[in-house]
Amino acid sequence: MRSMIPDYLTDVLEHVEPDTSGATAGYIPELADAEPEQLGAAFATVDGQVYAAGDCDAEFSIQSISKPFVYALALADRGFDAVLARVGVEPSGEAFNEISLEGGSGRPLNPMINAGAITTHSLVGVAGSDPAERLERVVDGLSAFAGRQLEMDESVCASEMAFAHRNLAIGHMLRSHDILTEDPATVVEGYIRQCSLLVTTRDLAVMAATLANRGVNPLSGKQVVPEPVLRQVLSVMATCGMYDAAGDWATQVGIPAKSGVAGGLIGTLPGQIGIATFSPRLDAHGTSVRGVSLFHRFSSDMGLHVM
Ligand code: DON
Repeated sequence: MRSMIPDYLTDVLEHVEPDTSGATAGYIPELADAEPEQLGAAFATVDGQVYAAGDCDAEFSIQSISKPFVYALALADRGFDAVLARVGVEPSGEAFNEISLEGGSGRPLNPMINAGAITTHSLVGVAGSDPAERLERVVDGLSAFAGRQLEMDESVCASEMAFAHRNLAIGHMLRSHDILTEDPATVVEGYIRQCSLLVTTRDLAVMAATLANRGVNPLSGKQVVPEPVLRQVLSVMATCGMYDAAGDWATQVGIPAKSGVAGGLIGTLPGQIGIATFSPRLDAHGTSVRGVSLFHRFSSDMGLHVM
């Protein structure tokens, strides 16, 4: 059965390849210029097998796919109460870059939208960590999820920094509510650095499989975060990971998932596999068009609908 997976993946990639709809992320010049035809997919099982096809070793920036992993690190480092005091767990029903703060408290609605993710970035590490220590913890933590040392794409980072007005505005809103307690520009820069980490589709499948495998990387055998953290992360991915498309995704695909504007997309089936796809053209929600088609196929072909 498993020997059929590589042929299956190649076949499904060929099926979606003709679809050239959507556009690369326009608001980050380096991403706008990405090669739009790239297309890859990978499965990683909880017993450590990785199956990959197409441009599965091409590197691209992780972008919002970093959010569930950094949420996991924040929960592991600071505990549930401290993180929940600053970031909620309710779907926003709005785009990823909307302000989406709770009336009154100013708490971002969830950690998958930018407002919540900027906040969870600020919560990584021990209380009082400086920005460099925090970033080091993020890079090392995400690398542990991937099972190899990840590097940063400095040009993507500089490109996003030059046009970060919206995230900076969100950062200042968070500071005005004391959800951030330090210079918002510094936190936003750290968050953008986090988003600029380079991964391959194969890496993302292993990272998703680590979520599926109760926080243990199936290749390295390392427990990256404690199991209760995983449960929380998967629930939030399931309800909020696809932003204002969360309901359509839950009903039509039914796999806890997270997308990124460089074209990556991951899905996690607890106890089974991590799935990742990559194709840079995006739909109106900032999610890869061909990635969505691939996940529809995977879900219906293999009966993966679990939500
Ligand atoms: O903060 C941003 O706008 C980007 N660094 C990440 C956004 C993103 O990937 C949204 N997801 N599809």
